[in-house]
Amino acid sequence: MSGPFDLAGRLAVVTGARRGIGMAVAEALAVAGADIVAVSAHLDADGGEVARRVRSHGRQCESFAVDFADRAAVKALAARLNAADRPVDILVNNAGTIARAPAAEHSDADWDHVLTVDLTSQFIFTREIAARMLSRGQGKIVFTASLLSFQGGVTVPGYAAAKSGIAGLTRALANEWAQRGVNVNAIVPGYIATDNTRPLREDPARNAAILSRIPAGRWGRPEDLGGVAVFLASAASDYVHGTLVAVDGGWLGR
Ligand SMILES: NC(=O)c1ccc[n+]([C@@H]2O[C@H](COP(=O)([O-])OP(=O)(O)OC[C@H]3O[C@@H](n4cnc5c(N)ncnc54)[C@H](OP(=O)(O)O)[C@@H]3O)[C@@H](O)[C@H]2O)c1
Repeated sequence: MSGPFDLAGRLAVVTGARRGIGMAVAEALAVAGADIVAVSAHLDADGGEVARRVRSHGRQCESFAVDFADRAAVKALAARLNAADRPVDILVNNAGTIARAPAAEHSDADWDHVLTVDLTSQFIFTREIAARMLSRGQGKIVFTASLLSFQGGVTVPGYAAAKSGIAGLTRALANEWAQRGVNVNAIVPGYIATDNTRPLREDPARNAAILSRIPAGRWGRPEDLGGVAVFLASAASDYVHGTLVAVDGGWLGR
């Protein structure tokens, strides 16, 4: 492949790459030509399924098991990547967790965990990886926002707060870094069939309510996110800054 979507020779870090959206995005970037650094809380030393998929497309895959609840571990990973000969060209911040409980029963521990993994560590990791991008005057950063960057959701107050924060962070970083050659944008997945949303699909009432509101008439698949991820990681999006791109089957337009 050649042209504005070509990622040949690029190195992409994808967090939360062991399963779900992250694995599909890592594979899509590999198909477009990128080598992958896969990061996830429970990734096997050999990189497991995501590494097999990336290598099946003739690309390299390095893997790291890092818990984003552990700020020191996040900083150590960034330092290791920044010390490597090969710089990171693309950062896809996809790792994320969720805690479901009504606001009145939402514990401090759940709040702290979700905000740390889904917002604070996203900022810390991005700040560290972006330092080298800024010094090179080039880089692509893609956050993973949510419909709950725009809406309140149902019994996930910490998650809604964190993902609303990701929307603000995307714009704030883009404002500072657009003129320095680094693009910062976000993907907004709609309701995608992954482990994250399994409880919703297993609840007949919630599943029916969600499905009936999606104009496309089906849950999204992790693979549905691949095209936008490649776009935001490639030269095709060089003039796209601070935008949240929905891949939601039409949910937000309804
Ligand atoms: N599914 C949806 O409908 C939907 C909608 C909007 C936004 N999103 C967002 O999309 C992203 C991916 O979610 P998904 O649906 O693919 O969910 P998923 O299947 O549950 O995958 C989540 C990924 O994040 C990683 N992760 C979770 N906690 C982590 C931690 N403490 N440290 C490091 N990695 C951690 C997991 O690592 P391990 O596999 O190693 O455990 C896993 O690879 C998340 O940011 C999520 O909020 C999803």
